[in-house]
Amino acid sequence: MTNAADARQTKPDWSAVRLHVVTGKGGTGKTTVAGALALALAAGGERPGARRVLLVEVEGRQGLAQLFEAAPLPYEERRVAVTPDGGEVWALAIDAEQALLEYLDMFYKLGPAARVLRRFGAIDFATTIAPGIRDVLLTGKTCEVVRRRAESGQGPGHGHDRVFDYDAVVMDAPPTGRITRFLNVNSEVSGLARVGPIRNQADAVMRVLTSAQTAVHFVTLLEEMPVQETLDGFADLRAAGLPAGGVIVNQARPIVLPEDRLKKAAQPGGLDQAELEAGLAPVGLADPEVVTALAALAAEHAQRVLLEAEQREALAATEAPMYELPLLGDGVDRVGLDLLARELRRQGAA
Ligand SMILES: Nc1ncnc2c1ncn2[C@@H]1O[C@H](COP(=O)(O)OP(=O)(O)OP(=O)(O)O)[C@@H](O)[C@H]1O
Ligand SMILES: [Mg+2]
Repeated sequence: MTNAADARQTKPDWSAVRLHVVTGKGGTGKTTVAGALALALAAGGERPGARRVLLVEVEGRQGLAQLFEAAPLPYEERRVAVTPDGGEVWALAIDAEQALLEYLDMFYKLGPAARVLRRFGAIDFATTIAPGIRDVLLTGKTCEVVRRRAESGQGPGHGHDRVFDYDAVVMDAPPTGRITRFLNVNSEVSGLARVGPIRNQADAVMRVLTSAQTAVHFVTLLEEMPVQETLDGFADLRAAGLPAGGVIVNQARPIVLPEDRLKKAAQPGGLDQAELEAGLAPVGLADPEVVTALAALAAEHAQRVLLEAEQREALAATEAPMYELPLLGDGVDRVGLDLLARELRRQGAA
């Protein structure tokens, strides 16, 4: 943890950021970390509803509803959690088709007409839309909620003297392999729309995504493949001029042996069996089978710890702030999620 913080900094590392994009290799914990980060960002307010964070998902998988044990989310902002100090986490499952209808409604007052068009199959949305347009609709809706001002009268922001509807927006984003293309809507729509509303929308989106308001965080495990994807992902993102955020190592396992023992245990001969036996004798466990089994376990643990250390070192090449979240033995329920959120705050991520 480069930015780590046993002594918590006065300001979190990303205090200027209002859009946190959470990516990472598939299955590394993007959805979990996005949820924990939203809780972490929502905490720390002084009065009920003081801080409000919106979590958005863009892949139609209802991962956020599952994470917060809520009913499937409609295309509508719903409150999914409240922090002990009254911060609120809201969630929205952004659907490209719904976003298009909303967009047509907003800009052309075509709402009902668009719905009729759809009913008659004139817009066979899923099959005919260009992927670039789909992405710009998803990122466009995200940027709309990032920029939405409280006095617009939409969403949950009534009755508060806040500037924006949401203090922060956290996106449970597509995986590392697709993230730069997904966010780089400019180049994606350049061949499709040179002028007109889609072009304007893409430009507005890029203004938010390339600004200091945005940070793209990478979730990884301390394993070779996700670490390599993280390194490649950072490089791609930076080459595209998009703002790289932090590295969040997820599912880190505790180290149970002191350093000198770890080195010894990882060597071919392993830990000194006589010494192990002597240590186990007082508790009546000096059985040769137990000793052998424990020595093997220690060797496995030590080798894994050393491999993980190599991966941690490789990640340092990103020169990004690093955070580390523990592997939760009991899986990720709300208690576990709160624990991860506290850990992110303690380390200065939020
Ligand atoms: N710190 C953790 N401790 C224990 N289990 C975890 C932790 N983080 C994530 N998990 C579990 O790992 C699995 C994958 O997590 P998650 O769904 O968040 O990953 P993802 O990157 O969003 O996956 P996908 O690519 O499928 O969207 C889930 O079962 C989740 O509960
Ligand atoms: Mg997910």
